[in-house]
Amino acid sequence: MTLRAVVRGVGHHLPARVVENAEFEATLDTSDEWIRSRSGIERRHFATEDDTTSSMATVAAQAALADAGLQPDDIDAIVLATSTADLTFPSAATMVQDKLGMTGGFAFDVQAVCAGFVYALSNANALIVSGQAKRVMVIGAETFSKIMDWTDRSTCVLFGDGAGALVLEAREGDGTAADRGILATDLNSDGRHRDLLYVDGGVSTGTSGYLRMQGNQVFRHAVEKLAATAETAMERAGVTADDVDWIVPHQANIRIIQGTAKKMGIAMDRVVVTVQDHGNTSAASIPLALSVGRASGQIKDGDLIVTEAIGGGLAWGAVVLRW
Ligand SMILES: CC(C)(COP(=O)(O)OP(=O)(O)OC[C@H]1O[C@@H](n2cnc3c(N)ncnc32)[C@H](O)[C@@H]1OP(=O)(O)O)[C@@H](O)C(=O)NCCC(=O)NCCS
Repeated sequence: MTLRAVVRGVGHHLPARVVENAEFEATLDTSDEWIRSRSGIERRHFATEDDTTSSMATVAAQAALADAGLQPDDIDAIVLATSTADLTFPSAATMVQDKLGMTGGFAFDVQAVCAGFVYALSNANALIVSGQAKRVMVIGAETFSKIMDWTDRSTCVLFGDGAGALVLEAREGDGTAADRGILATDLNSDGRHRDLLYVDGGVSTGTSGYLRMQGNQVFRHAVEKLAATAETAMERAGVTADDVDWIVPHQANIRIIQGTAKKMGIAMDRVVVTVQDHGNTSAASIPLALSVGRASGQIKDGDLIVTEAIGGGLAWGAVVLRW
């Protein structure tokens, strides 16, 4: 028998304010056509004054609990991936724990920027297979609108806000690729590339700072590293491209998503795509896409899913799971 971390519930939350590409034309030298053709993004949600990372994460977690048929105190641990926690500390995860009304367990944040959700999934999986937790709430939540330089057209049109959550539960499997749950993970980082994508503020500057990105350099790394990490995780899981039902990629840019799928030999009709409606929501993008893919009927019980993501650090990775 092998312990597996199996998905029991999923949910998401998007803030109410929707901003179409055309709205940027009033303040920036840009166009709907440029944004659409270079990134695939058509619109994104932005937090209102009342929305924070922890508030959106809480609503997503409540939706995942409802989907799982569980109560907050059924959860042993919260692992929350974010680079935009409400405060420097405490963690957004402990704020969610409080907002959910959880009186036990433990909660912590994982910070791996856009790769945050695959890092969080991998950590949650480790907690479950090592017997430290039976049920883990894994959340990706971001308010990147709070770290945008609204005068920088090369970044502010690309990002959005939102949250998604999965409930993972320990179940016994046979130890084969036919098992439900997380089958394999692969994590990587290379700090030599830290200047390609970073925020120019923090404790050392006394400001929260703004996102800075050399987009074309990040792009250059993305397709190659994403296909490689996905293939490593698939090999560890003992599956091939033919076995994959859905790639659920980090949603940064449709051209990266298409390039990675092509390199992996998987057709676009087996890729869940939400970038047109959400923009790049960093650590929230994969759980948002999983939740939307499940709600739309694309992802079914037993489907084999590969998630992959890359972001600031650079940090990147992949998770193979059977729903
Ligand atoms: C950002 C990105 C969409 C830009 O597309 P690109 O084809 O690489 O474009 P470039 O950065 O080479 O810029 C081309 C031109 O468009 C201009 N441009 C940038 N943003 C623009 C905008 N919003 N509207 C109009 N023009 C814009 C640039 O200034 C540049 O002009 P120049 O040639 O006169 O200097 C693309 O590089 C990308 O998606 N990179 C990956 C980013 C990413 O996913 N990051 C997150 C990873 S988690």
